[in-house]
Amino acid sequence: MKIRKQIEAVALEAGKIILSADSIQAATDKKSGHANFVTEYDKKVQEFLFEKLADVLPEASFVGEEEGAESFREDYRKGYAFVIDPIDGTTNFIKAYRPSVTSIGLLLDGKPYIGVVHNPYQGVTYSAERGKGAYRNGIRIHSSKEPLSRSLFSMGTAPYYEELTARSFRIAENYLHRTMDMRRSGSAAWDLCLLAEGITGLYYELRLGLWDFTAGAVIAEEAGCVITDIDGKPLTYDGPSSVLAVSAGVAGESYLPEV
Ligand code: IPD
Ligand code: CA
Ligand code: CA
Repeated sequence: MKIRKQIEAVALEAGKIILSADSIQAATDKKSGHANFVTEYDKKVQEFLFEKLADVLPEASFVGEEEGAESFREDYRKGYAFVIDPIDGTTNFIKAYRPSVTSIGLLLDGKPYIGVVHNPYQGVTYSAERGKGAYRNGIRIHSSKEPLSRSLFSMGTAPYYEELTARSFRIAENYLHRTMDMRRSGSAAWDLCLLAEGITGLYYELRLGLWDFTAGAVIAEEAGCVITDIDGKPLTYDGPSSVLAVSAGVAGESYLPEV
């Protein structure tokens, strides 16, 4: 079986663990940063993914949110490296606000290669492989051709970094006046998939971990989106970064924040 299909199968199994969750509040601990929580399920799903994905590519290294891997190791740039967020949208998960997704990115020699994002609540899986297009439940998807003025935008609030709040909302106000309206899903990976599918035209967040955006970035790019940091510079895939991603339609105009 091709690597992408094997990763999708593992993501579907991980989704079953997420759906089996009960007493989430009781299984919740605080991490560092404002309102940053982790549940027993984040850890359980990550352990499951590490084990099953090692069967898919035994030679791969692993970067996972729940091992506190803030620092990027040079060996992640050689060969395969999985970049995993077991549950993206943990606050949603705790509050039963949907969605929460499993996000599995794969770097090859430091460059984004495969992305799989699975939402078990809706039974939706987005996936992409570099040069092979992006898919939603196996059907090819393309980003929107609409201009910014006729698009929705979504944003993440960088909730664990209070020093970024004021700028995040200044940019939101700016885009609110340049688009149809704003949405906030609570999952960066999901936001990138909605952009890839043509539902939104722009997404940004001032700080994300590598595991938040790697899988979604492959999916968005393969759907025709352009993804950079908030200043329009290329992403380096070697640690946390701001992210600004736009549809093919919006990429044709000047779309950087004007504040
Ligand atoms: C968070 C979500 C959220 C985004 C945060 C992320 P987590 O991931 O993607 O949408 O605003 O910046 O950290 O903590 O739920 O895995
Ligand atoms: Ca995340
Ligand atoms: Ca997470």
